[in-house]
Amino acid sequence: MEYNLSGKKVLLTGASGGLGLEIAKALLGQNACVALQYYQNKGPLLPLHKTYPKPLSNLYKCDLASTDNCEKLINSVTADLGTINVLINNAGIYKGAPLKNNTNWLDVWEETININLRSAAYLAKMVFNHFVEQDGGTIINISSRAAFRGDTINYLAYSASKSGLIGLTKTIAREGGRNNIHCFSIAPGWIYTKMATEIMDREQLEQIKYEQAIHEWIRPKDIVPMVSLLCTGSMKYATGSNFDINGGSFMQ
Ligand SMILES: NC(=O)c1ccc[n+]([C@@H]2O[C@H](COP(=O)([O-])OP(=O)(O)OC[C@H]3O[C@@H](n4cnc5c(N)ncnc54)[C@H](OP(=O)(O)O)[C@@H]3O)[C@@H](O)[C@H]2O)c1
Repeated sequence: MEYNLSGKKVLLTGASGGLGLEIAKALLGQNACVALQYYQNKGPLLPLHKTYPKPLSNLYKCDLASTDNCEKLINSVTADLGTINVLINNAGIYKGAPLKNNTNWLDVWEETININLRSAAYLAKMVFNHFVEQDGGTIINISSRAAFRGDTINYLAYSASKSGLIGLTKTIAREGGRNNIHCFSIAPGWIYTKMATEIMDREQLEQIKYEQAIHEWIRPKDIVPMVSLLCTGSMKYATGSNFDINGGSFMQ
């Protein structure tokens, strides 16, 4: 499904990753201007930036673990694009830590919360103020099935960070409605990206499919249509909602 997103100025975090890159391609292909944030991997974004040069796309290197960096990111993007209409909090990490190792557990907890939740909250807080001034905007938070179903015990921090995004989404939606600010979350099950393929062996990768009602891997392109639709602004009456995209592996 193609939409016309011309005039939309989007800040997309984690644009260099498996899901982010596919979202970036789709939004640029539908005429949005997209600020593409990456951290360590600029490479995957270069061909896209060549196809859609400034001002259609622009690249921003940023470690979202720091709130100072989050602030600089918003300031640079608003200076370059003039405004932001849509924030997509997509960057994330998936790190495990056994409960028995206290030092490592705390490090992983802090890193995960800072990148997956605190940065998303901080960026949302900043754009919220900006959206109030400009009379509206949309925030899309990429959460996870783990927010609702839980995860294995080593991934406690990940699950907690993704549940936090659900509360963030609903609170922004409740307060934002009167200012034409709408907020949504998307909770994917396993998606076939580096995040999944790096931690699973072939057998596990094969098994994942059979935990779903649909026995096929979910690909980034299967998440993208929902993101595009939410970017149009036409779903405002669903503000605060979460959209599960998990191949029927967890239904609520
Ligand atoms: N894959 C799955 O199975 C799955 C399932 C449910 C939800 N999700 C969620 O979907 C989102 C995208 O995941 P993905 O599968 O596309 O993962 P991915 O391929 O590993 O990409 C992760 C992205 O996050 C960025 N990132 C990591 N650490 C960062 C930091 N400190 N500061 C700024 N950016 C940072 C990465 O940037 P660089 O590569 O440039 O360093 C990359 O763009 C995540 O929020 C994830 O939790 C994924």
